Amino acid sequence: MASGGPFRLRLRLTLLVLYAFWISLAHAVSGQEPLKSVPEQRGYNAGEGIPVSCLNRTIETGEHITDASGQLQYIPFPTCNETGRPLELFFGIEKDINCTIDFISDPFFHLLEFYIHSDAPLTCRIPSKPLPPSALAHDLLALDTTSQEGALGTQSTLYTPLIIALAGTLQLSHLHVGNSLNLLVHAAPRSLSPGTVDAAAAYSVSSHTRNARVTIGDSLTLQFAVRWYPSITLPPGWSGYGGHVYKSTFLYCLLSAGASAAVCIAYFRGVELPRRLKRYAREKMNGGGRLVGGGGYGLPVANGNGARGYGGYGYGVGKKD
Ligand SMILES: *[C@@H]1O[C@H](CO)[C@@H](O)[C@H](O)[C@H]1NC(C)=O
Ligand SMILES: *[C@@H]1O[C@H](CO)[C@@H](O)[C@H](O)[C@H]1NC(C)=O
Ligand SMILES: *[C@@H]1O[C@H](CO)[C@@H](O)[C@H](O)[C@H]1NC(C)=O
Repeated sequence: MASGGPFRLRLRLTLLVLYAFWISLAHAVSGQEPLKSVPEQRGYNAGEGIPVSCLNRTIETGEHITDASGQLQYIPFPTCNETGRPLELFFGIEKDINCTIDFISDPFFHLLEFYIHSDAPLTCRIPSKPLPPSALAHDLLALDTTSQEGALGTQSTLYTPLIIALAGTLQLSHLHVGNSLNLLVHAAPRSLSPGTVDAAAAYSVSSHTRNARVTIGDSLTLQFAVRWYPSITLPPGWSGYGGHVYKSTFLYCLLSAGASAAVCIAYFRGVELPRRLKRYAREKMNGGGRLVGGGGYGLPVANGNGARGYGGYGYGVGKKD
């Protein structure tokens, strides 16, 4: 039995080592498991660029174009002269972005006609989170960002639709494009999904007065006012009919209150007070010792010992008995 001791010990040690190895292996495998199937997409960092791509459409009918596998074809937004790149947003950055499309080609002009005439919307989309590297993405959804063919169109959870509602008017030879646009983006609440776009929309404002006249060959500057919201609810925006009306009303009240006070003071000093003093003097001469509440305003001005209540225009001086 003396020789059995070391042998058992060695066996146990071996088993222990094997067990530890197996545990660590299991850990490693389980740790890598999410990477092998669906990689966890990270959220955007603040200020990170978000590319905008839009549905390609035929210029004959304005209908969307699908690729051989029936997927909607998205192409980058036209290149902006300001940046030399297609339109981009930046996560959480509120600013005004100008995007000048340098040359309106014949096809693009016809598409603009469809957009303005509401035959077809300018349907764009932005990635809800940074797109995974294309190698992984290829495994994931056969998604190739370079060819801009989104595997599942706007139905894909990878993207958030961004409809750009261009307003304007059609003329025979040219277009008026409401080129002043508000662009709103909602991020999902940080606690639920940090760095994630939840919804987005853009629309022309004051298109009757703020528009650009364009024909084929012109340039077109789109002015986007980009605003971000950190949740899916909009903050209340209405505080009276345009804040300035409220403010000016308040100012008007203040001014008119001041003006009427000035008129009252002038009247009291210039008319009423001399009259009372005169009457007071007359009554004193007539032997009347007391004067209470002289006329009009019922303000107790004096109590017979002189012209008290002159200071402060008679407020709160009171009758002194
Ligand atoms: C959009 O579709 C048209 C018509 O199929 C095609 O000629 C054009 O190359 C497409 N645009 C891009 C950027 O792929
Ligand atoms: C756009 O940029 C090009 C090259 O930088 C320039 O030649 C062109 O005049 C610009 N267009 C507009 C409308 O600013
Ligand atoms: C955009 O363009 C308009 C008109 O050309 C100009 O007034 C405005 O300052 C520009 N804004 C930015 C942010 O460049």
